[in-house]
Amino acid sequence: MPPNRRISRRTFVTGAGLSGLLSATSSRASSAPFDLAAADGTPEQIHLTWGEDPAGSVCISWASAAQAVNPRVQLRQSTGSVHAQQASSVHAVQRTYTDGLNGQTVFTYHASLTGLKDNAEYHYSVTADNDRHRARPFGATFRTAPKGRVPFRWTSYGDLATPNTAWTLSSPQSEFAVKAVERFQPLFHLLNGDLCYANLNPSVQPAVWADFGNNVQVSASRRPWMPCPGNHEIEFGNGAQGFNSYLTRYSLPQNGTPFSGLWYRFQVGSVLFISLSADDVIYQDSGAFVAGPAPLQPSPSTGNAPIAPGTSLYVRGYSEGAQTRWLESTLAAASRDVGIDWIVVQMHQDALSSSKNGNGSDKGIRETWLPLFDRYGVDLVLCGHDHDYERSWPVRGCNHDVGRDASSGAPVDTLQPKPVATSNPANGGAFDTTHGTIHFILGGGGTNAPLDAYGVNPDSGAPQAKVITKHNRPLLGKIPGTFAKPGADALEDAVWSARRDTGTGYGIGVFDLDPGTPGGKTSISISYYHALGADMAATAHYELFETVVLAKARRDTAK
Ligand SMILES: [Fe+2]
Ligand SMILES: [Fe+2]
Repeated sequence: MPPNRRISRRTFVTGAGLSGLLSATSSRASSAPFDLAAADGTPEQIHLTWGEDPAGSVCISWASAAQAVNPRVQLRQSTGSVHAQQASSVHAVQRTYTDGLNGQTVFTYHASLTGLKDNAEYHYSVTADNDRHRARPFGATFRTAPKGRVPFRWTSYGDLATPNTAWTLSSPQSEFAVKAVERFQPLFHLLNGDLCYANLNPSVQPAVWADFGNNVQVSASRRPWMPCPGNHEIEFGNGAQGFNSYLTRYSLPQNGTPFSGLWYRFQVGSVLFISLSADDVIYQDSGAFVAGPAPLQPSPSTGNAPIAPGTSLYVRGYSEGAQTRWLESTLAAASRDVGIDWIVVQMHQDALSSSKNGNGSDKGIRETWLPLFDRYGVDLVLCGHDHDYERSWPVRGCNHDVGRDASSGAPVDTLQPKPVATSNPANGGAFDTTHGTIHFILGGGGTNAPLDAYGVNPDSGAPQAKVITKHNRPLLGKIPGTFAKPGADALEDAVWSARRDTGTGYGIGVFDLDPGTPGGKTSISISYYHALGADMAATAHYELFETVVLAKARRDTAK
Protein backbone atom coordinates (compact mmCIF):
# COMPACT_ATOMS: atom_id res chain seq x y z
CA MET A 1 0.00 0.00 0.00
CA PRO A 2 1.18 3.57 -0.49
CA PRO A 3 3.05 4.52 2.64
CA ASN A 4 1.02 7.62 3.36
CA ARG A 5 -2.42 6.25 2.65
CA ARG A 6 -3.19 5.98 6.32
CA ILE A 7 -2.17 9.48 7.26
CA SER A 8 -5.46 10.97 8.22
CA ARG A 9 -6.21 14.61 7.84
CA ARG A 10 -5.10 16.22 11.04
CA THR A 11 -6.17 19.48 12.48
CA PHE A 12 -3.41 20.46 14.84
CA VAL A 13 -4.65 22.58 17.64
CA THR A 14 -2.85 23.84 20.65
CA GLY A 15 -3.91 23.23 24.18
CA ALA A 16 -3.69 26.90 25.06
CA GLY A 17 -6.42 28.04 22.69
CA LEU A 18 -8.93 25.37 23.62
CA SER A 19 -8.22 24.72 27.24
CA GLY A 20 -11.30 26.64 28.28
CA LEU A 21 -13.46 24.22 26.34
CA LEU A 22 -12.14 21.06 27.86
CA SER A 23 -13.97 19.18 30.52
CA ALA A 24 -14.13 15.65 31.83
CA THR A 25 -17.84 15.48 31.18
CA SER A 26 -19.91 15.26 28.03
CA SER A 27 -19.19 18.09 25.63
CA ARG A 28 -22.96 18.37 25.21
CA ALA A 29 -22.92 20.38 28.37
CA SER A 30 -20.41 22.87 27.00
CA SER A 31 -21.86 26.27 26.21
CA ALA A 32 -18.57 27.82 25.08
CA PRO A 33 -18.59 29.66 21.74
CA PHE A 34 -17.95 27.16 19.00
CA ASP A 35 -17.20 27.48 15.29
CA LEU A 36 -19.14 24.53 13.90
CA ALA A 37 -17.84 25.07 10.39
CA ALA A 38 -14.21 24.91 11.49
CA ALA A 39 -14.41 22.21 14.17
CA ASP A 40 -14.42 18.72 12.72
CA GLY A 41 -16.16 16.30 15.06
CA THR A 42 -16.22 13.40 12.59
CA PRO A 43 -15.69 10.14 14.50
CA GLU A 44 -12.56 8.17 13.66
CA GLN A 45 -10.42 5.54 15.39
CA ILE A 46 -13.64 3.79 16.48
CA HIS A 47 -13.09 0.84 18.79
CA LEU A 48 -14.95 -1.34 21.27
CA THR A 49 -13.96 -2.66 24.68
CA TRP A 50 -15.83 -4.81 27.16
CA GLY A 51 -17.46 -3.09 30.10
CA GLU A 52 -17.42 -4.58 33.58
CA ASP A 53 -19.51 -7.58 32.44
CA PRO A 54 -18.94 -8.63 28.81
CA ALA A 55 -22.36 -10.32 28.74
CA GLY A 56 -24.09 -6.99 29.37
CA SER A 57 -21.81 -4.04 28.77
CA VAL A 58 -19.66 -2.69 25.94
CA CYS A 59 -17.95 0.69 25.55
CA ILE A 60 -17.74 2.38 22.16
CA SER A 61 -14.82 4.82 21.95
CA TRP A 62 -13.55 7.10 19.23
CA ALA A 63 -11.58 10.27 18.54
CA SER A 64 -12.18 13.32 16.41
CA ALA A 65 -9.88 15.96 15.01
CA ALA A 66 -11.57 18.71 17.00
CA GLN A 67 -14.07 18.83 19.82
CA ALA A 68 -17.26 16.98 18.95
CA VAL A 69 -20.62 18.64 19.55
CA ASN A 70 -23.22 16.31 21.04
CA PRO A 71 -21.20 13.12 20.50
CA ARG A 72 -23.49 10.10 20.66
CA VAL A 73 -24.16 6.49 19.77
CA GLN A 74 -27.40 5.23 18.25
CA LEU A 75 -27.97 1.62 19.30
CA ARG A 76 -30.47 -1.09 18.46
CA GLN A 77 -30.54 -4.84 18.77
CA SER A 78 -30.07 -6.52 15.39
CA THR A 79 -32.26 -9.55 15.96
CA GLY A 80 -35.98 -9.60 15.25
CA SER A 81 -37.80 -7.09 13.13
CA VAL A 82 -35.71 -4.01 12.58
CA HIS A 83 -38.88 -1.95 12.43
CA ALA A 84 -39.93 -3.21 15.82
CA GLN A 85 -36.66 -2.12 17.39
CA GLN A 86 -36.50 1.26 19.01
CA ALA A 87 -33.05 2.76 18.62
CA SER A 88 -31.68 4.30 21.78
CA SER A 89 -29.28 7.22 21.91
CA VAL A 90 -26.36 7.14 24.32
CA HIS A 91 -24.29 10.24 24.86
CA ALA A 92 -20.53 9.91 25.00
CA VAL A 93 -18.24 11.25 27.70
CA GLN A 94 -15.37 13.38 26.47
CA ARG A 95 -11.82 12.75 27.61
CA THR A 96 -8.91 14.84 26.38
CA TYR A 97 -5.23 15.21 26.90
CA THR A 98 -2.71 17.60 25.46
CA ASP A 99 0.41 15.89 24.19
CA GLY A 100 3.33 17.04 26.28
CA LEU A 101 5.77 17.05 23.39
CA ASN A 102 3.95 18.67 20.45
CA GLY A 103 1.09 20.40 22.26
CA GLN A 104 -1.71 18.80 20.25
CA THR A 105 -4.95 18.36 22.15
CA VAL A 106 -6.59 14.99 21.49
CA PHE A 107 -10.36 14.65 21.76
CA THR A 108 -11.77 11.22 22.57
CA TYR A 109 -15.33 10.05 23.27
CA HIS A 110 -16.60 7.07 25.23
CA ALA A 111 -20.16 5.77 25.22
CA SER A 112 -20.76 3.15 27.89
CA LEU A 113 -23.54 0.75 26.89
CA THR A 114 -24.95 -1.21 29.82
CA GLY A 115 -27.94 -3.44 30.39
CA LEU A 116 -27.39 -5.25 27.09
CA LYS A 117 -28.68 -8.76 26.46
CA ASP A 118 -26.11 -11.54 26.56
CA ASN A 119 -25.06 -13.31 23.37
CA ALA A 120 -26.94 -10.75 21.31
CA GLU A 121 -26.02 -8.78 18.22
CA TYR A 122 -26.39 -5.03 18.24
CA HIS A 123 -26.10 -2.45 15.51
CA TYR A 124 -24.73 0.96 16.36
CA SER A 125 -23.74 4.20 14.71
CA VAL A 126 -21.54 6.99 16.06
CA THR A 127 -21.97 10.62 15.20
CA ALA A 128 -21.94 14.24 16.42
CA ASP A 129 -23.58 17.47 15.33
CA ASN A 130 -20.32 18.43 13.60
CA ASP A 131 -19.79 14.99 12.02
CA ARG A 132 -19.08 15.51 8.31
CA HIS A 133 -20.83 12.21 7.68
CA ARG A 134 -23.82 12.76 9.95
CA ALA A 135 -26.23 12.10 7.07
CA ARG A 136 -24.71 8.60 6.88
CA PRO A 137 -22.69 8.11 10.06
CA PHE A 138 -20.30 5.24 10.64
CA GLY A 139 -22.13 2.11 11.73
CA ALA A 140 -21.24 -1.49 12.58
CA THR A 141 -22.50 -4.49 14.52
CA PHE A 142 -21.08 -6.27 17.55
CA ARG A 143 -22.03 -9.22 19.73
CA THR A 144 -22.14 -9.36 23.51
CA ALA A 145 -20.55 -12.27 25.34
CA PRO A 146 -22.60 -15.36 26.17
CA LYS A 147 -23.35 -16.27 29.77
CA GLY A 148 -22.46 -19.51 31.49
CA ARG A 149 -20.31 -22.40 30.28
CA VAL A 150 -20.52 -21.95 26.52
CA PRO A 151 -18.00 -22.21 23.66
CA PHE A 152 -16.31 -19.06 22.37
CA ARG A 153 -13.18 -17.95 20.52
CA TRP A 154 -10.67 -15.23 21.16
CA THR A 155 -7.53 -14.22 19.31
CA SER A 156 -4.33 -12.54 20.43
CA TYR A 157 -1.08 -10.86 19.47
CA GLY A 158 0.92 -7.84 20.52
CA ASP A 159 3.30 -5.34 18.96
CA LEU A 160 1.05 -4.11 16.16
CA ALA A 161 2.38 -0.66 15.09
CA THR A 162 0.66 1.04 12.12
CA PRO A 163 0.69 0.56 8.34
CA ASN A 164 2.23 4.02 7.84
CA THR A 165 5.89 3.35 7.11
CA ALA A 166 6.72 6.99 7.74
CA TRP A 167 6.67 6.07 11.45
CA THR A 168 9.48 4.26 13.25
CA LEU A 169 8.77 0.52 13.61
CA SER A 170 5.61 0.63 11.47
CA SER A 171 5.02 -1.82 8.64
CA PRO A 172 2.33 -2.69 6.08
CA GLN A 173 2.03 -6.04 7.90
CA SER A 174 0.04 -4.14 10.53
CA GLU A 175 -2.90 -3.85 8.14
CA PHE A 176 -2.82 -7.57 7.32
CA ALA A 177 -2.64 -8.42 11.03
CA VAL A 178 -5.88 -6.54 11.68
CA LYS A 179 -7.55 -8.33 8.77
CA ALA A 180 -6.29 -11.64 10.19
CA VAL A 181 -8.40 -11.04 13.29
CA GLU A 182 -11.46 -10.58 11.06
CA ARG A 183 -10.67 -13.84 9.24
CA PHE A 184 -11.06 -15.76 12.49
CA GLN A 185 -14.14 -13.83 13.69
CA PRO A 186 -13.36 -14.07 17.42
CA LEU A 187 -15.70 -12.81 20.10
CA PHE A 188 -12.87 -10.45 21.10
CA HIS A 189 -9.15 -9.88 20.60
CA LEU A 190 -6.38 -9.46 23.18
CA LEU A 191 -3.78 -6.87 22.10
CA ASN A 192 -0.71 -7.58 24.20
CA GLY A 193 0.93 -4.15 24.43
CA ASP A 194 3.22 -2.04 22.22
CA LEU A 195 0.20 -0.77 20.34
CA CYS A 196 1.71 1.79 17.96
CA TYR A 197 5.21 2.87 19.13
CA ALA A 198 4.24 6.53 19.26
CA ASN A 199 7.03 7.10 21.79
CA LEU A 200 9.59 6.29 19.08
CA ASN A 201 8.14 9.18 17.04
CA PRO A 202 8.16 11.79 19.78
CA SER A 203 7.30 14.91 17.78
CA VAL A 204 4.18 13.36 16.27
CA GLN A 205 2.85 11.00 18.94
CA PRO A 206 -0.88 11.80 18.43
CA ALA A 207 -0.60 11.32 14.65
CA VAL A 208 0.91 7.85 15.16
CA TRP A 209 -1.92 6.96 17.52
CA ALA A 210 -4.43 8.17 14.91
CA ASP A 211 -2.97 5.93 12.22
CA PHE A 212 -3.02 3.02 14.67
CA GLY A 213 -6.62 3.72 15.64
CA ASN A 214 -7.84 4.00 12.07
CA ASN A 215 -6.09 0.76 11.13
CA VAL A 216 -7.52 -1.29 14.01
CA GLN A 217 -10.99 0.20 13.49
CA VAL A 218 -11.49 -2.37 10.69
CA SER A 219 -11.78 -5.02 13.40
CA ALA A 220 -12.07 -3.16 16.71
CA SER A 221 -15.32 -1.46 15.64
CA ARG A 222 -16.88 -4.92 15.29
CA ARG A 223 -15.57 -6.74 18.36
CA PRO A 224 -13.80 -5.63 21.53
CA TRP A 225 -10.04 -5.32 21.40
CA MET A 226 -8.75 -5.59 24.95
CA PRO A 227 -5.27 -4.09 25.37
CA CYS A 228 -2.58 -4.07 28.00
CA PRO A 229 0.05 -1.34 28.16
CA GLY A 230 3.56 -2.04 26.88
CA ASN A 231 6.81 -0.18 27.22
CA HIS A 232 6.07 1.80 24.06
CA GLU A 233 2.92 3.26 25.60
CA ILE A 234 5.23 5.12 28.04
CA GLU A 235 5.60 8.63 26.62
CA PHE A 236 7.51 11.69 27.79
CA GLY A 237 5.29 14.58 28.80
CA ASN A 238 2.15 12.49 29.19
CA GLY A 239 1.74 11.82 32.89
CA ALA A 240 3.84 10.47 35.72
CA GLN A 241 4.14 7.05 34.08
CA GLY A 242 3.68 8.35 30.53
CA PHE A 243 0.39 6.48 29.97
CA ASN A 244 -1.92 9.51 29.46
CA SER A 245 -2.47 8.85 25.76
CA TYR A 246 -3.25 5.16 26.33
CA LEU A 247 -5.52 5.88 29.29
CA THR A 248 -7.39 8.66 27.49
CA ARG A 249 -8.12 6.55 24.43
CA TYR A 250 -9.18 3.31 26.15
CA SER A 251 -12.15 2.75 28.41
CA LEU A 252 -11.43 -0.39 30.43
CA PRO A 253 -12.92 -2.18 33.46
CA GLN A 254 -12.20 -0.56 36.82
CA ASN A 255 -9.69 -2.04 39.27
CA GLY A 256 -10.59 -0.02 42.34
CA THR A 257 -7.20 1.71 42.59
CA PRO A 258 -5.89 5.11 41.44
CA PHE A 259 -4.41 3.27 38.44
CA SER A 260 -7.64 2.25 36.73
CA GLY A 261 -7.15 1.33 33.09
CA LEU A 262 -3.65 -0.08 33.58
CA TRP A 263 -4.76 -3.46 34.89
CA TYR A 264 -8.19 -5.08 35.01
CA ARG A 265 -10.12 -8.33 34.87
CA PHE A 266 -13.14 -9.58 32.99
CA GLN A 267 -14.84 -12.93 32.67
CA VAL A 268 -16.32 -14.60 29.62
CA GLY A 269 -18.05 -17.91 30.26
CA SER A 270 -15.82 -20.02 32.48
CA VAL A 271 -12.61 -18.10 31.65
CA LEU A 272 -11.23 -15.31 33.82
CA PHE A 273 -9.02 -12.90 31.87
CA ILE A 274 -6.53 -10.81 33.86
CA SER A 275 -4.73 -7.99 32.07
CA LEU A 276 -1.58 -6.67 33.74
CA SER A 277 0.85 -3.76 33.41
CA ALA A 278 4.22 -5.49 33.64
CA ASP A 279 6.19 -2.24 33.47
CA ASP A 280 5.32 -2.01 37.17
CA VAL A 281 7.45 -5.06 38.06
CA ILE A 282 10.07 -5.60 35.34
CA TYR A 283 13.72 -4.72 35.78
CA GLN A 284 14.18 -3.71 32.17
CA ASP A 285 14.36 0.01 31.36
CA SER A 286 12.49 0.10 28.06
CA GLY A 287 10.14 3.10 28.08
CA ALA A 288 10.66 6.52 26.50
CA PHE A 289 14.35 7.36 26.14
CA VAL A 290 16.47 10.18 24.73
CA ALA A 291 19.55 8.68 23.08
CA GLY A 292 21.11 12.04 22.18
CA PRO A 293 23.27 13.80 21.26
CA ALA A 294 20.53 16.44 20.96
CA PRO A 295 18.03 16.89 23.78
CA LEU A 296 14.37 16.19 23.07
CA GLN A 297 12.83 19.62 22.61
CA PRO A 298 9.07 19.88 23.29
CA SER A 299 7.05 22.41 21.32
CA PRO A 300 7.18 25.88 22.96
CA SER A 301 3.36 25.76 23.28
CA THR A 302 3.68 23.03 25.92
CA GLY A 303 5.85 25.08 28.23
CA ASN A 304 7.80 21.88 28.90
CA ALA A 305 11.58 21.93 29.32
CA PRO A 306 13.99 20.10 27.00
CA ILE A 307 14.71 16.51 28.01
CA ALA A 308 18.42 15.76 28.33
CA PRO A 309 20.21 12.96 26.48
CA GLY A 310 20.41 9.82 28.59
CA THR A 311 17.01 10.43 30.20
CA SER A 312 14.70 7.42 30.39
CA LEU A 313 11.21 7.13 31.85
CA TYR A 314 11.73 4.14 34.16
CA VAL A 315 8.52 3.28 36.00
CA ARG A 316 9.34 0.02 37.84
CA GLY A 317 7.42 -0.01 41.11
CA TYR A 318 5.06 2.79 40.11
CA SER A 319 2.03 1.29 41.86
CA GLU A 320 4.02 0.61 45.05
CA GLY A 321 2.64 -2.92 45.19
CA ALA A 322 -1.00 -2.01 44.54
CA GLN A 323 -1.10 -4.03 41.33
CA THR A 324 0.36 -7.15 42.90
CA ARG A 325 -2.02 -6.88 45.88
CA TRP A 326 -4.94 -6.55 43.43
CA LEU A 327 -3.62 -9.53 41.44
CA GLU A 328 -3.41 -11.72 44.52
CA SER A 329 -6.90 -10.81 45.75
CA THR A 330 -8.30 -11.35 42.23
CA LEU A 331 -6.65 -14.76 41.98
CA ALA A 332 -7.75 -15.71 45.50
CA ALA A 333 -11.35 -14.84 44.63
CA ALA A 334 -11.10 -16.88 41.43
CA SER A 335 -9.85 -19.87 43.41
CA ARG A 336 -13.09 -19.80 45.42
CA ASP A 337 -15.34 -19.43 42.36
CA VAL A 338 -16.37 -22.77 40.87
CA GLY A 339 -17.77 -20.90 37.86
CA ILE A 340 -14.17 -20.21 36.74
CA ASP A 341 -12.41 -23.15 35.05
CA TRP A 342 -9.56 -21.24 33.40
CA ILE A 343 -7.38 -18.26 34.23
CA VAL A 344 -5.66 -16.45 31.35
CA VAL A 345 -3.20 -13.63 32.04
CA GLN A 346 -2.34 -11.00 29.44
CA MET A 347 0.76 -8.83 29.84
CA HIS A 348 3.30 -7.27 27.52
CA GLN A 349 6.74 -8.30 28.77
CA ASP A 350 8.03 -11.84 29.09
CA ALA A 351 9.00 -14.03 32.00
CA LEU A 352 10.06 -16.78 29.57
CA SER A 353 11.62 -15.66 26.30
CA SER A 354 14.68 -17.06 24.54
CA SER A 355 14.73 -14.54 21.70
CA LYS A 356 18.34 -14.00 20.64
CA ASN A 357 18.07 -10.43 19.37
CA GLY A 358 15.08 -9.31 21.40
CA ASN A 359 14.77 -8.37 25.05
CA GLY A 360 14.76 -11.80 26.70
CA SER A 361 13.20 -12.91 29.99
CA ASP A 362 12.65 -10.52 32.90
CA LYS A 363 13.40 -11.66 36.45
CA GLY A 364 11.07 -8.99 37.82
CA ILE A 365 8.02 -10.93 36.58
CA ARG A 366 9.52 -14.20 37.75
CA GLU A 367 10.04 -13.06 41.32
CA THR A 368 6.88 -10.97 41.71
CA TRP A 369 4.10 -12.72 39.79
CA LEU A 370 5.13 -16.28 38.89
CA PRO A 371 4.78 -17.47 42.51
CA LEU A 372 1.18 -16.16 42.44
CA PHE A 373 0.52 -17.88 39.13
CA ASP A 374 1.80 -21.11 40.74
CA ARG A 375 -0.18 -20.73 43.95
CA TYR A 376 -3.49 -20.02 42.23
CA GLY A 377 -3.08 -22.14 39.11
CA VAL A 378 -2.94 -19.65 36.25
CA ASP A 379 -3.29 -21.70 33.06
CA LEU A 380 -2.02 -19.40 30.33
CA VAL A 381 0.12 -16.28 30.08
CA LEU A 382 -0.08 -14.37 26.79
CA CYS A 383 2.61 -11.80 26.06
CA GLY A 384 4.34 -9.80 23.33
CA HIS A 385 7.48 -7.61 23.59
CA ASP A 386 9.77 -9.97 21.69
CA HIS A 387 8.51 -9.98 18.10
CA ASP A 388 8.32 -13.71 17.64
CA TYR A 389 6.45 -16.86 18.66
CA GLU A 390 7.54 -19.00 21.55
CA ARG A 391 5.59 -21.53 23.62
CA SER A 392 6.81 -22.86 26.94
CA TRP A 393 6.26 -26.21 28.57
CA PRO A 394 3.95 -26.04 31.57
CA VAL A 395 6.13 -24.55 34.34
CA ARG A 396 5.81 -24.52 38.11
CA GLY A 397 8.37 -23.37 40.64
CA CYS A 398 11.95 -22.56 39.76
CA ASN A 399 15.53 -23.76 39.88
CA HIS A 400 17.96 -21.54 41.76
CA ASP A 401 21.49 -20.45 40.91
CA VAL A 402 21.67 -22.05 37.47
CA GLY A 403 22.16 -18.83 35.45
CA ARG A 404 25.38 -16.99 34.80
CA ASP A 405 26.45 -13.43 34.26
CA ALA A 406 26.56 -12.64 30.54
CA SER A 407 29.93 -10.89 30.87
CA SER A 408 31.86 -12.58 33.66
CA GLY A 409 30.26 -16.02 33.69
CA ALA A 410 29.74 -15.74 37.45
CA PRO A 411 26.71 -17.58 38.87
CA VAL A 412 23.42 -15.64 38.85
CA ASP A 413 20.09 -16.71 40.30
CA THR A 414 17.77 -16.14 37.35
CA LEU A 415 14.91 -18.08 39.02
CA GLN A 416 14.88 -20.45 36.06
CA PRO A 417 11.28 -21.69 35.63
CA LYS A 418 10.97 -25.44 36.14
CA PRO A 419 9.08 -27.42 33.45
CA VAL A 420 6.66 -30.07 34.69
CA ALA A 421 6.65 -31.76 31.27
CA THR A 422 9.22 -31.71 28.46
CA SER A 423 7.37 -33.54 25.72
CA ASN A 424 4.07 -33.11 23.96
CA PRO A 425 1.19 -35.28 25.19
CA ALA A 426 1.06 -38.69 23.52
CA ASN A 427 -1.36 -39.44 20.71
CA GLY A 428 -2.38 -35.87 20.13
CA GLY A 429 -3.52 -35.54 23.72
CA ALA A 430 -3.82 -32.45 25.86
CA PHE A 431 -1.66 -30.64 28.39
CA ASP A 432 -3.17 -30.49 31.85
CA THR A 433 -2.37 -27.00 33.09
CA THR A 434 -3.45 -27.81 36.63
CA HIS A 435 0.20 -28.90 36.95
CA GLY A 436 1.86 -25.88 35.35
CA THR A 437 1.38 -22.58 33.54
CA ILE A 438 2.08 -22.33 29.78
CA HIS A 439 3.54 -19.05 28.54
CA PHE A 440 3.07 -17.86 24.97
CA ILE A 441 4.94 -15.03 23.29
CA LEU A 442 2.73 -13.65 20.53
CA GLY A 443 4.76 -10.57 19.62
CA GLY A 444 4.24 -10.83 15.90
CA GLY A 445 1.57 -8.23 15.20
CA GLY A 446 2.85 -5.83 12.58
CA THR A 447 6.10 -4.04 13.38
CA ASN A 448 8.95 -3.82 10.89
CA ALA A 449 11.30 -5.55 13.34
CA PRO A 450 10.78 -9.33 13.49
CA LEU A 451 12.87 -11.04 16.17
CA ASP A 452 12.51 -14.72 15.25
CA ALA A 453 16.09 -15.74 15.95
CA TYR A 454 16.56 -17.64 19.20
CA GLY A 455 19.36 -18.26 21.65
CA VAL A 456 21.41 -21.43 21.56
CA ASN A 457 23.92 -22.61 24.16
CA PRO A 458 27.13 -22.85 22.08
CA ASP A 459 28.43 -25.74 24.20
CA SER A 460 25.35 -27.97 24.27
CA GLY A 461 23.26 -26.73 21.36
CA ALA A 462 20.28 -26.47 23.74
CA PRO A 463 17.98 -23.42 23.79
CA GLN A 464 19.45 -20.53 25.76
CA ALA A 465 17.74 -17.41 27.11
CA LYS A 466 18.94 -13.96 28.01
CA VAL A 467 17.63 -12.85 31.40
CA ILE A 468 17.34 -9.28 32.68
CA THR A 469 18.01 -9.40 36.42
CA LYS A 470 18.73 -5.74 37.15
CA HIS A 471 18.05 -2.20 35.94
CA ASN A 472 19.83 -1.63 32.63
CA ARG A 473 20.41 2.08 33.10
CA PRO A 474 21.38 4.07 29.98
CA LEU A 475 25.17 4.33 29.60
CA LEU A 476 27.33 6.65 27.55
CA GLY A 477 27.51 5.40 23.94
CA LYS A 478 30.42 5.27 21.54
CA ILE A 479 29.50 8.56 19.89
CA PRO A 480 30.14 11.50 22.24
CA GLY A 481 26.97 12.77 23.85
CA THR A 482 24.93 9.69 23.03
CA PHE A 483 23.53 7.04 25.35
CA ALA A 484 22.51 3.40 24.96
CA LYS A 485 20.75 0.88 27.16
CA PRO A 486 22.67 -2.33 27.87
CA GLY A 487 21.05 -5.64 26.96
CA ALA A 488 20.23 -8.50 29.30
CA ASP A 489 22.88 -9.12 31.95
CA ALA A 490 22.47 -12.90 32.43
CA LEU A 491 22.06 -16.17 30.53
CA GLU A 492 20.39 -19.48 31.36
CA ASP A 493 19.50 -22.69 29.59
CA ALA A 494 15.91 -22.34 28.38
CA VAL A 495 14.86 -25.74 29.71
CA TRP A 496 11.29 -24.43 29.69
CA SER A 497 11.17 -23.62 25.95
CA ALA A 498 8.92 -26.01 24.01
CA ARG A 499 8.55 -24.49 20.54
CA ARG A 500 10.02 -21.51 18.71
CA ASP A 501 8.97 -20.32 15.26
CA THR A 502 12.10 -19.73 13.22
CA GLY A 503 10.11 -19.27 10.00
CA THR A 504 8.74 -15.80 10.66
CA GLY A 505 8.25 -13.31 13.46
CA TYR A 506 4.58 -12.68 12.57
CA GLY A 507 1.40 -14.50 13.47
CA ILE A 508 -1.83 -14.69 15.43
CA GLY A 509 -2.98 -16.97 18.24
CA VAL A 510 -6.51 -18.39 17.95
CA PHE A 511 -8.06 -19.82 21.13
CA ASP A 512 -11.20 -21.96 21.14
CA LEU A 513 -12.84 -22.75 24.45
CA ASP A 514 -14.87 -25.94 24.75
CA PRO A 515 -16.70 -25.80 28.08
CA GLY A 516 -17.29 -29.55 28.12
CA THR A 517 -20.22 -31.18 29.85
CA PRO A 518 -20.99 -31.69 33.53
CA GLY A 519 -18.83 -34.49 34.87
CA GLY A 520 -16.40 -34.17 31.98
CA LYS A 521 -13.45 -32.06 30.95
CA THR A 522 -13.19 -28.57 29.52
CA SER A 523 -10.54 -27.72 26.93
CA ILE A 524 -8.87 -24.87 25.12
CA SER A 525 -7.56 -25.54 21.62
CA ILE A 526 -4.78 -23.11 20.69
CA SER A 527 -3.78 -22.70 17.06
CA TYR A 528 -0.99 -20.38 16.01
CA TYR A 529 -1.18 -19.13 12.44
CA HIS A 530 1.97 -17.49 11.11
CA ALA A 531 2.63 -15.20 8.17
CA LEU A 532 5.47 -17.00 6.36
CA GLY A 533 7.52 -14.59 4.29
CA ALA A 534 6.44 -11.54 6.24
CA ASP A 535 9.99 -11.04 7.54
CA MET A 536 10.88 -10.11 3.94
CA ALA A 537 7.68 -8.55 2.61
CA ALA A 538 4.23 -7.98 4.06
CA THR A 539 1.73 -10.73 3.33
CA ALA A 540 -1.98 -11.30 3.86
CA HIS A 541 -1.42 -15.06 4.04
CA TYR A 542 -1.48 -16.65 7.50
CA GLU A 543 -1.14 -20.44 7.72
CA LEU A 544 -1.26 -22.92 10.58
CA PHE A 545 2.03 -23.39 12.42
CA GLU A 546 0.92 -25.61 15.30
CA THR A 547 -2.05 -26.54 17.46
CA VAL A 548 -1.88 -27.52 21.12
CA VAL A 549 -4.76 -28.48 23.38
CA LEU A 550 -5.18 -27.92 27.11
CA ALA A 551 -7.73 -29.94 29.07
CA LYS A 552 -8.75 -30.22 32.70
CA ALA A 553 -11.69 -31.30 34.82
CA ARG A 554 -14.51 -28.80 35.10
CA ARG A 555 -14.42 -27.23 38.52
CA ASP A 556 -18.15 -27.51 39.04
CA THR A 557 -17.81 -31.27 38.86
CA ALA A 558 -14.32 -31.77 40.30
CA LYS A 559 -14.14 -33.78 43.51
FE1 LIG B 1 7.80 -4.04 24.11
FE1 LIG C 1 7.39 -4.40 20.65
